[in-house]
Amino acid sequence: MFDLIIRNANLTTGQTGFDVGISDGKIAAIEKTLDGDCGEEIDATGRLLSPAFCDPHFHMDATLSLGKPRMNVSGTLLEGIALWGELRPIVTKEELVDRALRYCDLAVSQGLLFIRSHVDTSDPKLVTAEAMLEVREKVAPYIDLQLVAFPQDGYYRASEGVFALNRALDMGIEIVGGIPHFERTMDEGRQSVEALCRIAADRGLAVDMHCDETDDPMSRHIETLAAETIRFGLEGRVAGSHLTSMHSMDNYYVSKLIPLMAEAEINVIPNPLINIMLQGRHDTFPKRRGLTRVRELMEAGLNVSLGQDCTMDPWYSMGSADMLEVAHMGIHVAQMGGIEDKKQIFNAITTNSAKTMGLENYGLEVGCNADLVILQANDVVEALRLKPTRLYVLKGGKVVSQTPARISQLSLDGRPGVIDMGRDYVPGSH
Ligand code: FE2
Repeated sequence: MFDLIIRNANLTTGQTGFDVGISDGKIAAIEKTLDGDCGEEIDATGRLLSPAFCDPHFHMDATLSLGKPRMNVSGTLLEGIALWGELRPIVTKEELVDRALRYCDLAVSQGLLFIRSHVDTSDPKLVTAEAMLEVREKVAPYIDLQLVAFPQDGYYRASEGVFALNRALDMGIEIVGGIPHFERTMDEGRQSVEALCRIAADRGLAVDMHCDETDDPMSRHIETLAAETIRFGLEGRVAGSHLTSMHSMDNYYVSKLIPLMAEAEINVIPNPLINIMLQGRHDTFPKRRGLTRVRELMEAGLNVSLGQDCTMDPWYSMGSADMLEVAHMGIHVAQMGGIEDKKQIFNAITTNSAKTMGLENYGLEVGCNADLVILQANDVVEALRLKPTRLYVLKGGKVVSQTPARISQLSLDGRPGVIDMGRDYVPGSH
């Protein structure tokens, strides 16, 4: 007896036409055909069933604030930071909560149920932290929200940066952030990495730093981050977000750096939408892409997951809580167009991200939590191409979002998307 059976689903492994039985919020069986009673059935009609998407890098406190108090004219990272600095003192907790909750509704409809958000701790009043802690509690029934204490204006550079970050951790934020390339000097950046890793070790927390988000090939804080990770015994619990300077680094130096990162078990989080938009801004032509070395890091055995970073905020005027959009851009900018490449990129927004975030019981196996999405696509490769409708989104085996199938998309096998809309649709009738 199952609470729910999803019939005729294609799995992310490439296996087709399986029934998935769910009991007590967990996947209880995956068989070609499941017999027996169940409370409810969903006919997946040969569509892709995937674990829900994970976004390991986001800014929930800034999301949906586009245009407040003004637009980013230059479109650069630095003007974005300055603009956020104008908004932060005047924004209220209620506004922050309201925008974040609206974003979370969108995220659920996109099958995005796991989010790690950086929370700016630069202002010692910590309205942002208070708001995001409230949001974390409010969305807990349907989104697992992890929070990072993020010293946007610099741990040392902001006048009360040290106090405010530690205070945010005391309030219940559970991951230590950092931004070494934005400190006043390279040396202060290095010192901030060491201090923040020490805090994580002392408090038993994970680390996730904005690291080397610059085109400067001499921005090498990732080397310090890897070394301090090993020194403090934090292997596997540290993430390096962005790492865009690696795009421009000397190749010989990188040949030493990547094995060090592997030794430290650094989780790598590129953010393709934002990196391709913000990097290379000081270049004339040719313009660098700025994305870190995704293929090389994956081939070296590093855990690489892709983040979204922004949706409609001072840094990025686009975004739609769609991790397939992030993956789609990642495929292009990292030039990962082969079929196996694409499967790796799909992993980067699902299982790899779950590993980065330390999620337990995540996946599409018996015993895993039934946090799932059924997509209007036949398989992983097609999902990446089409960024299709999320037909059903389930949290703990319960449907939390349902969206009608699109009628206009055509699969490689010629099967039109109308299959879910009924057989009376006549092509060209509207
Ligand atoms: Fe970020």
